[in-house]
Amino acid sequence: MTTTQLFILGRSADAGSERGVDCPGELPAASDPDLVERARKAKAALGERVFVLGHHYQRDEVIQFADVTGDSFKLAQQAAARPEAEFIVFCGVHFMAESADILTGPGQRVVLPDLAAGCSMADMATFDQVEECWEALEEAGLADDVVPVTYMNSSADIKAFCGRHGGVVCTSSNAKRALEWAFEQGKQVLFLPDQHLGRNTAVLEMGMSLEDCVLWNPHRPNDMGKVAGAKMILWKGHCSVHGRFTAESVDDVRARIPGVNVLVHPECRHDVVLKADYVGSTEYIIKTLQAAPAGSSWAIGTELNLVKRLAQMFPDKSVSFLDKTVCYCSTMNRIDLPHLVWALESLALGETVNQITVEADTAHWAKVALDRMLALP
Ligand code: 13P
Ligand code: SF4
Repeated sequence: MTTTQLFILGRSADAGSERGVDCPGELPAASDPDLVERARKAKAALGERVFVLGHHYQRDEVIQFADVTGDSFKLAQQAAARPEAEFIVFCGVHFMAESADILTGPGQRVVLPDLAAGCSMADMATFDQVEECWEALEEAGLADDVVPVTYMNSSADIKAFCGRHGGVVCTSSNAKRALEWAFEQGKQVLFLPDQHLGRNTAVLEMGMSLEDCVLWNPHRPNDMGKVAGAKMILWKGHCSVHGRFTAESVDDVRARIPGVNVLVHPECRHDVVLKADYVGSTEYIIKTLQAAPAGSSWAIGTELNLVKRLAQMFPDKSVSFLDKTVCYCSTMNRIDLPHLVWALESLALGETVNQITVEADTAHWAKVALDRMLALP
């Protein structure tokens, strides 16, 4: 059992949970009117040596400097496909930069402009908790037939765990294919760390029932009888942004906007996805909007930066945010123009800042699981 220590505010700190909040060096002021020009100049000075990847949830001020934008899957592919770039500046969150480091060559350096850009979902499955779960599955005589599948949104050591135990990584755009592959290798799947992506894919795309899914709670004793009878063992983790959309917000938007199409990300809760018209990754959301007829109305349940950008990109369509109370992903938003300028200017001056490196053995096994994903048909 892992314990959480509580500290009295201002008197103590947990270095582990605050990992990487330092931003050494001089961060430009957010009010500096020359930030765009400075980013442009530093990027131009670096030329082919730098490649900037931008996740769709990034701010506009950052995304304008991305050489490629994409969902987690596309960005992993793109990182692997740039052996000539000395620096990969990853405008996204920590687990994405770790995956890029694992998939790039030894001479390449991956930089995350703000090390505090983590992911609350990834933090919901720690290596010790997953090991504890696996030991319980071993004791119950189940582990030999369980295939671990982890969502990309997990730390490198969880990906490595999956690599070591015959498992695979998936993203929101290939979860079904990864699960089909996993069920060819074993009888049960341990799905980490997003219960919603696991449940939505199993039930809505693969014909399983809700009873085929059991929740694994890392903080409480689990009923091993129920675990033994399930096909999908879902880790009790979720996205703190997508988890806030509700079924009521779907009803509400349908009442407000007649004929509206509801399009949500599969990290949303099952009852929300059940009520939606379309569900898919960020890349799928963009493509669906692109293909939609002029004059159509859309309510989108995903991160607000992307929804706002979609509204600007498609002025001939009505694009609204599914829920008025859901906020930005605070960690995605950590990457702002001052941090990007600081990272690019430092690189141009010959100083590598905020480099993300994954320890060799972890990187080896995480790559096994990532390569299995990249090889999926
Ligand atoms: P995708 O871009 O793969 O859809 O992932 C969404 C997400 O939450 C990334 O953090
Ligand atoms: Fe993590 Fe959710 Fe933010 Fe994506 S949107 S980085 S899953 S907290």
